[in-house]
Amino acid sequence: MKAVELKKDIYWVGGIDWDLRNFHGYLTQRGSTYNAYLIMDEEITLIDTVKTYLYDEMIERIASITDPSTIKNLVINHVEMDHSGALPKFIQDYPDVKIYASPQGVKGLKAHFGDDITIAPLTQGDSLNLGSRKLDIFLTPMVHWPDNMVNYLEKDGILFSNDSFGQHIATSERFEDDFHADIVVEEARKYFANIVLPYTDQVKKELDAVAGLSFDMIAPSHGLIWRSETERIIELYRHWSENRTEKKALIIYDTMWNSTRLMAKQIQEAFDESGYRTMLLSLQNNHISDIMTELITAEYVCVGSPTLNNNMLPTVAAFLTYLKGLAPKGRKGIAFGSYGWGGQSIEHVREMMENARINVTNTFKQQYIPSAEDLAGIKKEILDEINA
Ligand code: FEO
Repeated sequence: MKAVELKKDIYWVGGIDWDLRNFHGYLTQRGSTYNAYLIMDEEITLIDTVKTYLYDEMIERIASITDPSTIKNLVINHVEMDHSGALPKFIQDYPDVKIYASPQGVKGLKAHFGDDITIAPLTQGDSLNLGSRKLDIFLTPMVHWPDNMVNYLEKDGILFSNDSFGQHIATSERFEDDFHADIVVEEARKYFANIVLPYTDQVKKELDAVAGLSFDMIAPSHGLIWRSETERIIELYRHWSENRTEKKALIIYDTMWNSTRLMAKQIQEAFDESGYRTMLLSLQNNHISDIMTELITAEYVCVGSPTLNNNMLPTVAAFLTYLKGLAPKGRKGIAFGSYGWGGQSIEHVREMMENARINVTNTFKQQYIPSAEDLAGIKKEILDEINA
């Protein structure tokens, strides 16, 4: 396994996780990479590491360029262990390396790996002098942990953006224009929706901080390196971080005996007739992380569950729990569902949607099987609401 040269003396030396399919609840159907970068200057510098089990792969790639013991500096941009997991082994094997992190990163790394690690703090505006280059430091707290930072090499025009602009894709290609750019953008959208979405205000600050920089590569810590589409991904991040929605409605549901599904279809029809783009998303067949990818541009989020044992179905509860954590801003919603007796699920769905910051504008509760007249009533109410 070899390093890949990005520019003269700058190399990708990360690890490829071909088998990853679950990243704490996020379906990573294309796997992922953990990107580490090697800068060959007077002070040889490594940016980030990899997950623990890919340590040997990273070292083999580094060794294709230089003896790893020649690395002088190790900059850890993020404590989360997909990037720092290999740190203890690296320190054990190469104890003379000087480690850097943000002030919050210093705290986090010590909490993870022990107080006896010596780590020098880097803060906003600092630069590491590498010899013919300097590595500029920008703190980006809460994109998406308190410790995050990104780095900029002015001489080479590279932004090392850590988790920002990443995508979960395992591939032997390293640049988005060597892969399929639209797939990279789609995976970046999924990544934003499932990881970055709660922190849109902090993303705006990061975008403002890097707006004045001139770069022709964005090198994230996951997936492909942006080379031809740097402006496109920056513009998309601005778009997504502003929570701009489209005339789009998601109808998300699970069903027991088809009644809640009939309601879902009727709700979809009302939005269709009103010129909305719609998606009918059964929780039996759609992964919650794929639904989130669609949700970042949806104006309406409609969620339905029948009542089972005085409660909503577990699939719906799982989706709403996930949604609450990701806390999208500025969405409207409808809660609905059928029931035989009791009918508690619909109010529970409504409460959970409101806890997820969805503005619930209507609720539909149907006992047993909806008649044609019941369904027509649902449709009329929605059309009246949309066209009011
Ligand atoms: Fe890719 Fe927040 O770790």
